[in-house]
Amino acid sequence: HSIPNASIVIFGATGDLAHRKLFPALYQLYQKGHMKENFSVVGVSRKEYSHEQFQQEVYEAVNEHTPGTESDKVKKFASHFYYLKMDVTSEPSYHELEELLNVLDRDYQTNGNRLYYLAMAPRFFGTIPTFLKSEGITNTEGWQRIVIEKPFGHDLPSATKLNEEIQQSFNEDDIYRIDHYLGKEMVQNIQVIRFGNAIFESIWNNKYIDSVQITSSETLGVEDRAAYYEKSGALLDMVQNHMLQMVMMVAMEPPGELKPEHIRDEKVKVLRSLRFFNEEEVRKNVIRGQYTDGKIKGESVPAYLKEENVDPESKTETFVAAKLFIDNFRWTGVPFYIRTGKRMAVKSTEIVIQFKQGPMALYHANTEKYQPNLLRIHIQPDEGVSLTLNAKPKGDTSDLLPIDMTYNNKSATDMNSPEAYEKLLHDCLLGNSTYFTRWDEVALSWEFIDRITKTWNGTGAPITYYNSGSMGPQEAEQLLYADGHSWWEPT
Ligand code: BG6
Repeated sequence: HSIPNASIVIFGATGDLAHRKLFPALYQLYQKGHMKENFSVVGVSRKEYSHEQFQQEVYEAVNEHTPGTESDKVKKFASHFYYLKMDVTSEPSYHELEELLNVLDRDYQTNGNRLYYLAMAPRFFGTIPTFLKSEGITNTEGWQRIVIEKPFGHDLPSATKLNEEIQQSFNEDDIYRIDHYLGKEMVQNIQVIRFGNAIFESIWNNKYIDSVQITSSETLGVEDRAAYYEKSGALLDMVQNHMLQMVMMVAMEPPGELKPEHIRDEKVKVLRSLRFFNEEEVRKNVIRGQYTDGKIKGESVPAYLKEENVDPESKTETFVAAKLFIDNFRWTGVPFYIRTGKRMAVKSTEIVIQFKQGPMALYHANTEKYQPNLLRIHIQPDEGVSLTLNAKPKGDTSDLLPIDMTYNNKSATDMNSPEAYEKLLHDCLLGNSTYFTRWDEVALSWEFIDRITKTWNGTGAPITYYNSGSMGPQEAEQLLYADGHSWWEPT
């Protein structure tokens, strides 16, 4: 689909996200011909820049983060960028923005279509939309959409307040809350694997599925983000959004149609059936961990408490494992185990569906080699699916041989799948909100998370520790042993 003419305003245009993700993603849309010449981008930040300097930055960022670019094409792309120094908390700044946008509307025939991307500190998420409306910037003939980066609040009350503020200026339909995991190729593919294959959909329930595991592990530590991370921790940074989104995609009912609202309705129903824990259940089912020093790929790395700008007594969790329950007809009795953390052994995101054993152990009664059937959905770094089956090794033996049937998306299509941000920007410019989070999803996920935070902050559950370069604390293993399960390591 071709993207309509539009102006894009990026608040926070000199930041990391803009450079690493947004400019390269927009470039890809341009380079692939989805975005023609009728678009302009206004970069906004507090720094002093000329249009030319900003264009040069865009040019460099695209070259740095996109392999194999053509210099002329990138230059032409960068020539669509403009810069405005703004104090986003001060009204007069918005008049300058309006003047610039009016000129660009004319020059690029944008029909007044405007997309505002808030890639800034969350404390401005409420202020900017309010001014955009009060200063008449949103008052054009065209569409007005706003993209909000995470975190969307830090608990339910703050998220509600923020939402009310934004909804004063933008309709829910025009608010695009980003969760970049929803832009990942294989996260979107979960639906297709499920609903496009009768063999899976018919067994996708508690009669045939034993348990589900979702792991998202990282090797990176907190890096230079301690100021943010100390307050968020892995629970708010990864679980409230990305991990719960994957749970919803695995557990949702088939939508009546492949339309945004149908899909989002089904997703939100999963959260309505998610068991909200009381304090005792939090202590029993949720583990928080923090990394100590260790080695990652042979290199020594420091403990979280020794990282720059981290309080030496910090109790911030860098790891969370949890056992979740979805109390509905399809899922009662099937545990959903999730775990995520920094400084773990590998960078990997994987969903493993473990099927129940057949009714009679004809083959696996007396062999250790028996493996349950597993459907693994590889989200990253590999993209694909694999199915573990049992077969017989060659020769006269009663042994079993586990075999893997694997489909690797990247090698099959021989091209890099588009980055999450590219897909999401594309969708947003086309007005497709399927892979953005709706307010009721956000509210319910906070309600679930707040109970955990409250228990941890109160009399609390102890924090556990794990060595950097491991797959998390012992307690996370125990969580599964207790049920006769263990984590499937990423393949
Ligand atoms: C972000 C978190 O949302 O997701 C980061 O703030 C984390 O802490 C990142 O590193 C992980 O994303 P990805 O796409 O690399 O798995």
